[in-house]
Amino acid sequence: MGKKIETIGVLTSGGDAPGMNAAIRAVVRAGISSGLKVKGINRGYAGLLEEDIMEMGTMSVTDIVQRGGTILFTSRCKRMMTPEGQRQAADVCRKHGIDGIVVIGGDGSFRGAQKLSDNGINTIGIPGTIDLDIACTEYTIGFDTACNTAMEAIDKVRDTSASHERCSIIEVMGRTAGHIALWCGISNGSEYVLVPERKDENAEDEIIQKILSKRRIGKKHHIIVNAEGIGNSHEMAKRIEAATGIETRATVIGHIQRGGNPTCRDRVYASAMGAQAVDLLLEGKTNRVVAYRDGGFTDYDIDQALAMTKDIDEHLYSMTKRLSR
Ligand code: ADP
Ligand code: F6P
Repeated sequence: MGKKIETIGVLTSGGDAPGMNAAIRAVVRAGISSGLKVKGINRGYAGLLEEDIMEMGTMSVTDIVQRGGTILFTSRCKRMMTPEGQRQAADVCRKHGIDGIVVIGGDGSFRGAQKLSDNGINTIGIPGTIDLDIACTEYTIGFDTACNTAMEAIDKVRDTSASHERCSIIEVMGRTAGHIALWCGISNGSEYVLVPERKDENAEDEIIQKILSKRRIGKKHHIIVNAEGIGNSHEMAKRIEAATGIETRATVIGHIQRGGNPTCRDRVYASAMGAQAVDLLLEGKTNRVVAYRDGGFTDYDIDQALAMTKDIDEHLYSMTKRLSR
């Protein structure tokens, strides 16, 4: 075991996610409760390299558990992807007396954390991304809030779609991951869900046939949920309108899914993960990522976590087809 941890740092990196503030608060409060000094690093790895670092007290994290975004700001930092940048980042930690660091972000951020650990700084990752696309964990900070935000938006689109007897294509976030689309597809009772994990060149024809047959049995409006990664929803709407003769509109929900007050689940799980990350640092652990699996919190080696792969839930995916008959 290395030297005793006295000061820890915390940063957020990559895309922000509602609940990150609850995790920051937990790291700061759990750290201070355990007798540690806590330093906040602004703007992820970019701020670390620029030494944008401040000491955080219990009052620096008051009134944030309920707020979306991240009070530490976030960024994407190319320099951190180079060996020189990684060495410099570790040197900055040493210069500021940071013995251990908590990185809240996605897979990319964990690769940076892995490099910090290789360069002698104890690092713990916390999965923060609305996409739920981190393989080792069944929960990532922000997914629950993003799904609820998208679900409410789709309910609203459904109202106007029904009034006008239209077809609505609704695009949710997730370039390479269809989890939000799948959950919304079920919770919004959509007729079809398109996800990047199950790209199917016949899907559009199937959708057209489905819309036409549903019209014949009296259905007045149609909801199709697309994950961002499957293609241009506006172009798809034009093709569906041309093929069915039914007015079709596309709505891209966009970044509102990344903001807003975190749900209760996001606040609670993010808090638990923040406290657990501090415990792991106190135990002298490094290169670990906190995860939620099989009903409990656990942790994985980052190398192992990054080598894992994840698919969408096949049971839920096939169920959407059964329920939209
Ligand atoms: P996310 O963490 O949400 O997956 P990114 O993939 O954009 O977001 O990664 C966030 C940041 O993590 C990057 O801007 C970069 O600074 C750092 N990062 C990503 N990949 C690596 C890598 N292979 N090595 C070191 N740092 C990386
Ligand atoms: O990873 C989260 C996410 O919101 C993805 O769903 C989306 O594809 C991407 O980030 C958008 O990134 P940006 O905010 O940089 O446009």
